[in-house]
Parts: sequence; structure tokens; C-alpha cells
Amino acid sequence: MAELRGALIGCGFFAVNQMHAWRDIEGASIVAVCDRDPERLCIVGDQFGIAKRYADAAELFASERLDFVDIATTAPSHRPLVEMAARYRVPVICQKPFAPTLADAKAMVKACSDAGVPLMVHENFRWQSPIQAVRAVLDSGKIGTPFFGRVSFRSAYDVFSGQPYLAKGKRFIIEDLGIHSLDIARFLLGDVSTITTRTVRINPDIAGEDVATMLMDHKNGATSVVDCSYATKLAVEPFPETLIEIDGSDGTIRLAQGYRLTVTGKSGTKIIDVSPPLLPWASRPWHNIQESVVAIQQHWVDCLAKGTEPATSGADNLQTFALVEAAYLGAQSHEPVHLDALLK
Ligand SMILES: NC(=O)c1ccc[n+]([C@@H]2O[C@H](COP(=O)([O-])OP(=O)(O)OC[C@H]3O[C@@H](n4cnc5c(N)ncnc54)[C@H](O)[C@@H]3O)[C@@H](O)[C@H]2O)c1
Repeated sequence: MAELRGALIGCGFFAVNQMHAWRDIEGASIVAVCDRDPERLCIVGDQFGIAKRYADAAELFASERLDFVDIATTAPSHRPLVEMAARYRVPVICQKPFAPTLADAKAMVKACSDAGVPLMVHENFRWQSPIQAVRAVLDSGKIGTPFFGRVSFRSAYDVFSGQPYLAKGKRFIIEDLGIHSLDIARFLLGDVSTITTRTVRINPDIAGEDVATMLMDHKNGATSVVDCSYATKLAVEPFPETLIEIDGSDGTIRLAQGYRLTVTGKSGTKIIDVSPPLLPWASRPWHNIQESVVAIQQHWVDCLAKGTEPATSGADNLQTFALVEAAYLGAQSHEPVHLDALLK
């Protein structure tokens, strides 16, 4: 099969990981890059040897024959760019958070569906190999039927130096990081009917909440707690590890700091090291996330080749995005929020 021709829109902080990953992936390559900031366009174009550069996405779509576009801008530009891709009938990957609001996200899914254009959200955390290892244990049946889960991300890592915009938004940790944890909870325990949320801001220098605790009822009867914090100073900084606990009818799973996976089942306990590989271009502590970028982009190429729907398609991500919206509503009202009403 001929190699797929892709373009990247948004050459910022995280896009560099996506560009490295595209170089590792067979069956696709990036033929053009786009950014409205000439400096970022030049840095990424030079670093990855991409000669075709555009300051304006409309010009990119009008000039290039593309098999897909990878949108790595921040959320405010996602809807116009995804809708532009749909108009040009170009399959599209969009970074998380999918959109500023659930109404925007629904409109984006509809635009792509009406145009018959595949749409995947770059929701990469579930593609981290330690998280995939937890899913594999669940699928093996070793712990029986899960009835409780905890997805936890607690850190004091300075994310603001690399991503200064995170300090300015009224919404912070749920929208930026909690969104990944909520998606992992869905990935492991299924869709959610109700969510109850509490939030706090500890860091006085930021506009949004930096601590969130969410209690969820899953449709299959399981209960989970999703907790995240950027105000938690620990002896050994765990960033960016997601820690997981799952209790099942026959045993337990614990994914602990240091990528230590402990599985207890009817036949005893096994401890496995599920450390992610350090890719040649990756750097600690981001290597866990960087590896997941390769995995999700490879998944996209495989899905396009087979004509199948990506695991984190736009339609799938509406469920995760609705949890974000519901969490903010519930944090304000202190009431549980029902997901079905939001998703109607
Ligand atoms: N999945 C992950 O693990 C992960 C990690 C970090 C960031 N992100 C997400 O990636 C996205 C980008 O984050 P970032 O930190 O790289 O942001 P950034 O601000 O560093 O980069 C965004 C770039 O997009 C460009 N841009 C914005 N609107 C544009 C438009 N309409 N046309 C062309 N260029 C445009 C900006 O000039 C900028 O260079 C965010 O949505 C963020 O949440 C995801």
C-alpha cells in the first residue's frame, strides 16, 4: 500500500512528540506542517526536514493532497479546524481536549460523520503500555468481575513552564489531565451513569482548579474514584504515572509507582515490571507518554488501512468529554450529575 500523506497543524510543545512518532511509524509520513506562529513553523519544519510549510490551515487544505491531518493545536481552534478537514473530506486526528464545550464536540462528530470522514481524538493515555497491561489482566479473567476501581494521578510537577497557558484558564486539572484519567476509567470499567465531583485550588498563582476528586457509578455496577492533583508533594515525584487499583470478585490489580503491577488471583500473587520502553528520541519522565503517542498514531494508520473505527473515535470521546463537562457542573452544584441527560 502507498504511504499515507499527512499534515500536522500546530507546531507547539507537544507536536514535537507527534512528529517524532510519525517518523517511527510505517505506512504514513508528514508531508506538510502548518502553524500561524512563524517561529514554531520554522523550528519544527527545520527539525523534521519538512519543506512545505503553511501559516494558514485553509491554504494547506487548498494546496495539498492529503490522506489525513493531525491537529495539535489547543482546544479553541479544534472545531474550526476539524470542520475544515470535514469540508475537504480529509480524515482527521484532533488533540485532546476535543473542544471547548460538549456542544462543540457533538457538532464536530456530526460534521465528520455527515462528510463520511474518519475522526480520532488523540486520547493517548489508555495507550500507555502499563495501562494496556492492566486491561490485559482484566481481559484474562484473573480477578473475576471488577466492582471497584481507582485511577489516581497525584503530582507536584511544574507543568506550567512547558505549557504556560495551563495557568491561565478558568478550568485546569479536570480539562487538561483529569480527562485522561476519566478516559482510563472508562477504558477499564466501561461507561458511566453518574459522577460526583469536588475541586480545590491550592496553587494561588493559577486561575483554575489543581485538585479534583470524582466518584463514578459505572453502568455495569462498578464504582470508581478518579483523583488528580498537581499540588501533591511526594518523596519521589511520580509524574506522569497514572496509578491504578481494581478490585474484582476473584482478586485485585495494583499498578503502583515505579510501574510495578501486582496481580492477585485465585492462584496467588504475581508482581510484574511494566516499565514503558525509553524510545531513542524520548526523555524521562515523559517517555511513558511519548511511547503512547507512537501507539495511538500507529492505531490510526492501521484503522485507516482496514477501514475500522479508532478506539478513541470522536463518537467514543463524547463519553469522556461529557464526563469533563459533568465534573465541572457537579463541582459547582455539589450534586451528582447524570451523564445520559448531557449526552442526549
Ligand atoms: N495527549 C497528551 O498527552 C498531551 C500532552 C500535552 C498537550 N496536549 C494537548 O496538545 C494540544 C497542544 O498543546 P501544546 O502544549 O503543544 O500547545 P502550544 O501552545 O505549545 O502549541 C499549539 C500550537 O498551535 C498553533 N496554533 C493555534 N491555533 C492555530 C491555528 N488555527 N492554525 C495554525 N496553528 C495554530 C500555535 O501557534 C502553537 O504553536 C493541547 O490541546 C494540549 O491539551 C496533549
